[in-house]
Amino acid sequence: MMALLILFSWLFIFVIIILGTYKIREIVEQFKLQGNEAKVASLQIAQNWFYALLVCAVLCGLGIVYIFLKGSIWEGHFMEWLNLVVRWIHITFGIAWIGASFYFVFLENALNRSENVRDELAGNLWAVHGGGFYYLEKYKLAPKKIPKHLHWFKYEAYFTWLSGFCLLIIVYYFNARSILIDPVVFDILPMSAIMISIFSLVLGWVLYDQICKRFAKSKLVFTIAITVLVFFFAWFYCQVFSGRAAYIHFGAFLGTLMAANVFFVIIPGQKRMVNAAKNGELPNPKDGEAAMLRSYTNNYFTLPVLFVMISNHFPSTFGNEYEWAVLIAITVGSAGIKHYLNLREKGKLSVWIMPVSIMVLLGVTFFTAPAPSTFENCTKEISFIEVADIIKNRCTACHSKKPTDAVWKSAPNGIMYDTPEQIYNLRDKIYQRAVLSKNMPFNNNQTGMLLEERDMINCWMNQGAIK
Ligand code: HEC
Repeated sequence: MMALLILFSWLFIFVIIILGTYKIREIVEQFKLQGNEAKVASLQIAQNWFYALLVCAVLCGLGIVYIFLKGSIWEGHFMEWLNLVVRWIHITFGIAWIGASFYFVFLENALNRSENVRDELAGNLWAVHGGGFYYLEKYKLAPKKIPKHLHWFKYEAYFTWLSGFCLLIIVYYFNARSILIDPVVFDILPMSAIMISIFSLVLGWVLYDQICKRFAKSKLVFTIAITVLVFFFAWFYCQVFSGRAAYIHFGAFLGTLMAANVFFVIIPGQKRMVNAAKNGELPNPKDGEAAMLRSYTNNYFTLPVLFVMISNHFPSTFGNEYEWAVLIAITVGSAGIKHYLNLREKGKLSVWIMPVSIMVLLGVTFFTAPAPSTFENCTKEISFIEVADIIKNRCTACHSKKPTDAVWKSAPNGIMYDTPEQIYNLRDKIYQRAVLSKNMPFNNNQTGMLLEERDMINCWMNQGAIK
């Protein structure tokens, strides 16, 4: 009864906020059409408050649902769908953001700057896409009159960051003990781990921002300072969090720098430039330069961030003994590839950068490869039946059509070991996670797999995995 009452009150408030948001939008649009800028400006503040209220209402709603489901059999299911929806939103905005960023870097690099370019222009570009012809022009500074409809690229960045941070909460803060923390790496309380996570993102931005402000004059000093900062954070996260959480945090750290660049520097600078142009003044070139510098580092962060976002599928990277070195090497290699692509779009061919970057990445593949087996304890032959028994005992609590685990209510990543065929067909993956990287059974060896059992699987694989 109580539950229904709370749910209905919430629904009632939620609907009112939605209606209010729509109404105020409608009024703003009307004033925009009338060209009443003063009214638009004041109403937009109210509109932003309504948006904020809307977000709060959604969060409250989710909170209420969570509290009611907590401890029931639907808790895991609810968290899974929350994870799914937010992740979906996150990659959609992420693709839009990075896609737009790649497109503008390409545009800048590919502009025709010499043939038939009017005086006020920096360049132009003809393009064909989706069955239509496009003609774009870039101004040297700003057009004489700022057009009424000017498109800003910012929400992609903001929503990517916001959804990413929500995901960090859903996946890592809620399961801090089992996913964020690895007691072998650093044994801390969940609350401390969450504090380190939040504080490090803020600190990362403050340090990066200072570097941009102080060292921008010398490209060499700037590059070295940023590199040291990035390397430090890659190393640091691997000292405090579990491997997979460390990698994601490194991505969150870079992503935070990228989004904060847009929010604190690039967009405010552009606003000042637009205002200057509206008042018939020359825009301050410093704003343009600062924005350029920030976009420049953002551009180099893109490929490393994308790697980190998929890294959780690849335990040979985050599960390595020197996972921080692997992370740094992949960051260097992928930023190198981006550097090559940038130069190529500008028509400069620095032939050596690409092969060196690829060599670095190949080096990582080599470095993370399992050592050739020196296993000598295989005194007796291990049969498949023994292996299947081990897997049944230690893994099917989670990896089954009907898991018995308290948290995992459906087979993680769809991996099931219910039949001998399934076990046999998935033997390479079992070897990878239970013998080489030893990060299964999940949750710090929840089902208590013994070292002997890992050794037996190792023997069986090395004896040719005979069924
Ligand atoms: C407590 C639950 C639990 C137990 C027990 C468990 N796993 Fe997992 N397993 C997971 C979760 C959660 C994931 C997904 C996250 C990840 O990849 O680390 C996973 C992922 C995997 C994957 C990666 C699948 C893929 O390709 O994406 C493999 C392989 C795997 N487990 C093997 C095993 C083996 C072998 C055992 C037994 C020795 C085992 N697991 C025991 C929870 C468990």
